[in-house]
Amino acid sequence: MGEKQLSKLKHGINGMPYLELRHPSGAQLDIYLHGAHAVAWRNAEGRSLLFLSQKSFFEPDRPIRGGIPIVFPQFGDGPLPKHGFARVQTWTLLGADLSDKGSAEAVFELKDNTETIKLWPHKFRLELVFRLVAEKLEILFSVQNTGQTDFEFKNGLHTYFSSADITKTSVSGLAGNDYIDFLGGKTAGRETREKIRFDRETDRVYPSAPQMVVLEDGGNRQKMIVEKGGMNDIVLWNPWIEKSRRMEDFGDDEYKNMVCVETGNLRQPIRLAAGEKHLSETCLDACSSIRER
Ligand code: BG6
Repeated sequence: MGEKQLSKLKHGINGMPYLELRHPSGAQLDIYLHGAHAVAWRNAEGRSLLFLSQKSFFEPDRPIRGGIPIVFPQFGDGPLPKHGFARVQTWTLLGADLSDKGSAEAVFELKDNTETIKLWPHKFRLELVFRLVAEKLEILFSVQNTGQTDFEFKNGLHTYFSSADITKTSVSGLAGNDYIDFLGGKTAGRETREKIRFDRETDRVYPSAPQMVVLEDGGNRQKMIVEKGGMNDIVLWNPWIEKSRRMEDFGDDEYKNMVCVETGNLRQPIRLAAGEKHLSETCLDACSSIRER
């Protein structure tokens, strides 16, 4: 990884450092050290693929609202801060460069430190590799237990995709899959819809979901293929009207232009023995327009 690229860290909102990862095709990914959080992804044509709230905080102790928040070691509520601490920790950029295969790559690391040990008494090393080409973004997520005892964790990518119009947006690939609905008392059910549309608050986990789902942004006539490996579950989330109003860092109408399709080990924790490493990945492929089918 080239030193040249490391010196390309820029100061973003509130002076917080971020990397502009550029691919020769013109595709670009902006990643903050705060949370190793990708906040903007533009494809080779300059189309913006991630949602970022105009009201997001950009502050050291608060997560960024939008982009790709990193979930670790907890998902949702629990003894730790919601969705864990990785999204509010400052990560280290290990390197960024063009790879031999022609992708632009950036590698970030987070290790246990005094703050994380206070919250979660385990030694670990996380590595995230972002691989960018013209129309695709691959994110490799490695979790290593660097301590002497086993631990359990959940991990994931809480990706906020942009949508031209949520009422024309759908997710397919989950029909026949069981789900647990976090709304209304965690009811379980089986998905029957080939195309899941959004017309109300949605907050569901699909455990053991298929490897691939397709997000269609009908308003833009574009689709995004979301593929995962080493990650069991998918969560679909849209806060809709009332919850949007309750969220301090989210505009009242912004629910119309986003949907989260989250990939990860979000339901059952993964047990990792001392010295072991767990690898997972998500590949986002923005290559196809709906009219090409
Ligand atoms: C989703 C959860 O993954 O994240 C929702 O299922 C939650 O219940 C949402 O509201 C956003 O969480 P946060 O902590 O970023 O506001």
